[in-house]
Amino acid sequence: MDGPLLIDRLALDPDAERRDVMARLLREPASISPKYFYDEVGCSLYGAICRLPEYYPTRTEVALFQARRGEIASVIGTGRQFVDLGAGDCCKAKGWLPFLAPARYVAVDIAVQEIAAALEKMAADFPGLELVGLATDFSRALDLEGVLSQVPALFFYPGSSIGNFTPDEARVFLARIQGHCASRPGSSLLIGVDGKKPKAVLDAAYDDALGVTAAFNRNALRHLNDRFGLDFDVGAFAHVGFYNEAEGRIEMHLESVRDQVVRVDGQARSFRRGERIHTENSYKYAPAEFEGVLRDAGFAAIRRWDAPDVAYSVFHAA
Ligand code: AVI
Repeated sequence: MDGPLLIDRLALDPDAERRDVMARLLREPASISPKYFYDEVGCSLYGAICRLPEYYPTRTEVALFQARRGEIASVIGTGRQFVDLGAGDCCKAKGWLPFLAPARYVAVDIAVQEIAAALEKMAADFPGLELVGLATDFSRALDLEGVLSQVPALFFYPGSSIGNFTPDEARVFLARIQGHCASRPGSSLLIGVDGKKPKAVLDAAYDDALGVTAAFNRNALRHLNDRFGLDFDVGAFAHVGFYNEAEGRIEMHLESVRDQVVRVDGQARSFRRGERIHTENSYKYAPAEFEGVLRDAGFAAIRRWDAPDVAYSVFHAA
């Protein structure tokens, strides 16, 4: 079998990307898309976050998958094309492959180097399995044109990343997946969703004692400096991460620690001391709330598995 096929659809319109970044920085309040967390440094920092004692989602989901793998796999069935959304290092998928015996494995992620390296490793571990990498920004559009075959698909979206969309965006995104499922009977979605829990637990998970989440957040500025030639003073912005109970979401911001000016697209963008750049939301859902989102997106057959000790659920939807 040939090596992994890598399809790069990231750089389709670099000018539009630059314009979008600059427009969001010039707006008040300013914002940065969370996709800019995930350069090489950011991917490593995210890996470190997943191992922090305060950050419960990863280990909770891993334990839930381990405990219920056979049962969940029997609901999904074998021989699907396994579409791993936000595949990263592909580690989350690996445990499923012996259970699901997929027809092919499609890793989708914005971090092109990360999936390229991960697929090379998978080729050695799973000889004979067709491996495809798709580098794309699926937070904008899930363009799978020419990438999927007609075999039924399992869309795998673990890690509660759906929380990084607003609920309305999540409905649109999930409806798109449902459309792909509907055109390939036997297809389904397996998704991990973080639940609402006490504010103190959530605050700590997104503002850890070691400061890894702070570094992850501030790294977005370093990444933008590198990528677009900006001159953010990374040390002059402080990490702010907290649970907004009324909105049911974590908010992350970067707060200017002094009055300062950053050159954005040839313009002087001044940031007052205390002014914030919004970098991320992470929505938390009660199980019934998320089931409603799945139904709104067009899924009808829904199963759910809850973690025993922490509010975290895995849904299978077809
Ligand atoms: C990727 N995503 C599910 C993480 C989350 O929990 O929302 C990103 C993250 N941000 C801060 N810590 C982790």
